[in-house]
Amino acid sequence: ERILVLMGGTSAEREVSLRSGKAVLSALLTLGYPAYALDYNHSAIDQILIDKPDLVFLALHGQNGEDGTVQGLLDSLDIAYTGSGLTSSVLCMDKVLSKKLFKYEGIPTAGYKILKKKDLIDSDAIHTLKEEIGLPMVIKAATQGSSIGTYIVRNEEDILSAINNAFLYSHEVLAEEFIDGKELTVALLGNEQPEVLPIIEITSQNEFYDYESKYTQGMFEHIIPARIDRISEENIINISKQVYELMNCKGFARIDFMLDKNGYPYVLEVNTIPGMTELSLVPDAARAAGMSFEELVERIVRLALK
Ligand code: DAL
Ligand code: MG
Repeated sequence: ERILVLMGGTSAEREVSLRSGKAVLSALLTLGYPAYALDYNHSAIDQILIDKPDLVFLALHGQNGEDGTVQGLLDSLDIAYTGSGLTSSVLCMDKVLSKKLFKYEGIPTAGYKILKKKDLIDSDAIHTLKEEIGLPMVIKAATQGSSIGTYIVRNEEDILSAINNAFLYSHEVLAEEFIDGKELTVALLGNEQPEVLPIIEITSQNEFYDYESKYTQGMFEHIIPARIDRISEENIINISKQVYELMNCKGFARIDFMLDKNGYPYVLEVNTIPGMTELSLVPDAARAAGMSFEELVERIVRLALK
């Protein structure tokens, strides 16, 4: 199969995507596939129409890549691609839509409020938000990845500037309850009956696993297996499978969690094109399951062609 790796693009996660794409391309070439890569832009679309690759390996993160837009384009061209489809991509990229679905289905997730650009966010509104969500609170741009536009706010005076910053990255913003505990993540691989890879516990040199600590060697640790008890582990595995099915994920995905000090898990979000860089979580989880990076890439390719 001729495989085209799409990477880069225009999102705020462009640099991460270029790193994921290069790693994937090199694995595909090692595996012997006639693979090549393109930076995702208008001329790449022209090229796709000419080349008609057998498969597109999507190594795009964030807006205009992980959010259903490219998936829809490839669907209409009848070109196969890796990972989740259009609907799933839209739902998972949008933290507001995800939250609503989690709530509807009884998936544990932190309490939240949705803020829209048109809302009047004056000092009364900020005060009410503080009363409802409490401090610290987490302010998040609704449709970003890699913690871009995400802030932990500890003082009432800092709420407004965090909200304004988050609005630079997305039209809707979430104000979420802060969960004090462990950051965990779960990678799943498969279509109908996904395999759950070992749970990773993440520690960071920064206040949380933010953009800088995610992509700087030495600023984080991936602890595998996570230091959690059996009951929490089983609980998280079950919720992960439930969420994967609920969100209609395909191929692979990574679900992020917080586990509070009482052992209660909260789903943060689902990443349908999780990072595949040399510092990323999914490749580490695969390694812990005895799978090389090449084997992981091969599995994702096979799952896309099923
Ligand atoms: N959004 C980044 C790429 C991740 O989830 O790994
Ligand atoms: Mg994410």
